[in-house]
Formats: sequence, C-alpha cells, structure tokens
Amino acid sequence: MIKLLSHLAHLEITTPDVEASVRFYEQQMGLRVFAREEDKVYLRAWGDYYNYSLVISEAAEPGLAVMAWRTSSAEALEEAAKRVEAKGVDVTWIEKSPGHGRSFVFTGPYGHTMELFWEVEKYQADGEHASVFPDRPERRSQHAVSPRQLDHVTVAASDVRGFADWYSEVLGFRIMAYTVLDEAPVTVFSVITTNEKSHDLGVVLDGSDRPGRVNHIAFWVDSREELLQGADILMENGTPMEYGPSIHGIGEQSFLYFRDPSTLRVEVNTGGYRNYVPDWEPNVWTPSAGSNNLYRNGAMPMSMTESFPPSDAPSATEEGIHPDTREALLNPYAKQGRG
Ligand SMILES: [Fe+2]
Repeated sequence: MIKLLSHLAHLEITTPDVEASVRFYEQQMGLRVFAREEDKVYLRAWGDYYNYSLVISEAAEPGLAVMAWRTSSAEALEEAAKRVEAKGVDVTWIEKSPGHGRSFVFTGPYGHTMELFWEVEKYQADGEHASVFPDRPERRSQHAVSPRQLDHVTVAASDVRGFADWYSEVLGFRIMAYTVLDEAPVTVFSVITTNEKSHDLGVVLDGSDRPGRVNHIAFWVDSREELLQGADILMENGTPMEYGPSIHGIGEQSFLYFRDPSTLRVEVNTGGYRNYVPDWEPNVWTPSAGSNNLYRNGAMPMSMTESFPPSDAPSATEEGIHPDTREALLNPYAKQGRG
C-alpha cells in the first residue's frame, strides 16, 4: 500500500461559548487567531506550517467536530477515498475549504468524522510575524506557554482494538502499543501513528452509548523545561492541572493535562521516542507497568476518564466488567499502593 497519510493537520472542536474558548486559547495557551468567519474561529500555533491547526465552532456541548489529516500526495487522497468507500463508508467530497483544496469527509465506524486533503495553503507570515529563521513559519511566540504546533488527538471508542485495526487497515496507521488491564483481558487504550512519533491518534475505551467522542487534544512544546514552566504559568493564571506534569510510559512523552472553558481536556506534551520501523509489532502494556505514568507512582485522577461530549458513563470503562476491574481501570495504581 502507498503511504496514505502524512500527518494531523487541524482539529475542529465545539464549545457552547466560542468567545470564551478563543480567549482561553489566545491568552492562556498563546495560540493566535488567524481568521474569523461568522460561525468559526481559526487559530494557529507559531510553528504550524499551514494557516491554522485549531478551529473553534459553536455547539451545545464540547466535542470534536472534525479531525483533518493531510495525505502524502494527490494520488494518496484518491486512494484513501477508495479504501474508505470499499469498507462501505460514505465519503463526501468538498471542492474547497478555507486554507486547503479538495477534500473528502467521512464518519468512521466509531462515529468520528475525519477529513482528508492534499492541497493546502502554506502559512506565510507577514512582516509583523515573520521569523528571522527560514525554517520557522512564524517567529516564536512571546507568550509563556505557546506550543510550537498541534501534536495529536485522542478519541474514545467502544472497541479499542477494533478502532486501531480499522484505521490501520484502511488508512495505514501503524499500531504502536496497547494497554490491557492487569486484572482482565480488556484493552483500554491504544496509540496509532502516521509518522515516527508514538501517536498522532490515540483511542481510549468508551463505555458510553455516545459514538464519536474525544478524550483530549494535544499540542507540542520543544522541551520539558517549557512544559514545566507552562504548567506553572497556567496554575498562576487560573488553570488548574488535571494530571501531570509527568511522563507517559507509552511513547515516553512528558505530559500535562488541563481543561479549556468548555471543559474539553487539553494536553501539552514533549519528548518521546522516534520510531521508524515499518513492520512494528505493537507492544502490550499494563497500567502497573507504567503505561500512563512511567514512574508508576501517581494515580490517574478519575476525571481523566471523562470524554466529550459528556456522558453519564465515563470513558475507559465497560458495562459488565467486574467492579474490581473497573476500579483498577479508573485507578490503576491503587493496587501498587496496597501492595
Ligand atoms: Fe495524549
């Protein structure tokens, strides 16, 4: 199969209060508004190569409207559409969108809407925003947190392995790792990737009856020092840390998580391995091996299992699994603490 996808290009998130979210991403995170339309605001990080990486639109609840990926070529775009259609999934072509050319959208088997395109406008900074360095699309932000670029998105699905398999088979994502519970053969997490990073698409188990949910969106900073300073500055300016800073075992990225005004979870991350192995076989982790927390010493807060739009049933749980298993899932380090 030819390489179909090159990378995650942008995400469209929804919020009941667009202006509150825009203010947050501008003032707390250091993204910049690139353009506004009547019902959408387009934001960019200083190191994004295209015009924007985050689109904010209004809806009753927080959620993920679209995840958009750039293909590896014009041919790859056509091939990807054929492969999606061959699975019995409808594709809808759009001739032109802001900042990129012809694309198609489809909703995958677990309810997530994906858009794929090849032709794209490369961001060109004007005088005020131009960098002194040729490789940078824009000068580095003067803002304290200011991620360099969009990094990944982690969604929620009712069958983690089914999700990973579908996107691997149809669009060529490499499956890098799974997390399986210590107590039961339940796969609760997987990371899949279009490139050398551990993931640009993650998936957590969703026990709710709402398809197409998202667990978090993530942006990249260049160093752990910036990440730690970012956590400090966010705290000082009214944004509590939901989890971290710490290091994931899977992928070995440093991370921190917090919420935007819609309650959507945002991650800032950095570091981690680079893996180019084309026939990689996914490793299987357990929570007690440190899948989520490399140091195996920090319980993931229960709130981290919430996905969006909200549901009574948290993500990463499954109806009918044993209560001990459920507890282990929600609090994977409790057992170590007892031991
Ligand atoms: Fe993440």
